[in-house]
Amino acid sequence: MMQSTSLHVAIIMDGNGRWASRRGLPRTAGHHAGARAVRRVVEAAAAQGVGALTLYAFSSDNWRRPAAEVAALMRLFTRHLRSETARLVEAGVRLSVVGRRDRLPAALTAAIRAAEQSTAGGTALHLRLAVDYSARDAIRTAMLLPFAGALLPDVDLLIRTGGEQRLSDFLLWETAYAELVFIDTMWPDFGADDLATAIAAFHSRERRFGGLPSQAAG
Ligand code: IPE
Ligand code: IPE
Ligand code: MG
Repeated sequence: MMQSTSLHVAIIMDGNGRWASRRGLPRTAGHHAGARAVRRVVEAAAAQGVGALTLYAFSSDNWRRPAAEVAALMRLFTRHLRSETARLVEAGVRLSVVGRRDRLPAALTAAIRAAEQSTAGGTALHLRLAVDYSARDAIRTAMLLPFAGALLPDVDLLIRTGGEQRLSDFLLWETAYAELVFIDTMWPDFGADDLATAIAAFHSRERRFGGLPSQAAG
């Protein structure tokens, strides 16, 4: 079987709140456990043939949540970026943040800039973190620019945890021919094995891009 050496995998990391509620914990405990899952998955990705990994951390619609939850998430992102940067550099991971920056707390935008600068030389994996991200906004913005295609790289495999089967304004353009995997596992429970299972499912599917099945071709 032909295996692409550099997959673009995108993940809608959903289910942190329910994971916590089921344990009688506050929702923010679920977000902290979710951050630990991010670390596990980033560590596993490059070894599994992932070249780019785009993680949906905060949607532009997530501003509708209670201010306390939003503030806790912003603090978590800031702390996590600061504490993970050295590990990312060590692992050869280049970090980019996609989404709007103008509505983020100043401490977070500073942490983003520092992490992006420190990790700029990484070649093992391109980690793209979507924060204050809306696919519709991203498409509108890209279309005004000369090299729109480079800003909207095709996704090979899209995974959504947490049981919902919708895109919630994530990568609407880039997923035109993505293989979709929806799993019931809540994001904090997601690990390297789940990533491997989803990638195996991806490789078992035949991508035709509108053409004919390969047996019928030629
Ligand atoms: C995903 O988990 C993380 C963010 C959207 C920030 P949720 O917070 O949506 O968790 P559920 O869906 O309420 O369980
Ligand atoms: C999508 O999850 C956004 C992120 C995972 C960051 P939501 O929990 O916000 O999506 P809906 O509200 O269930 O569609
Ligand atoms: Mg959710």
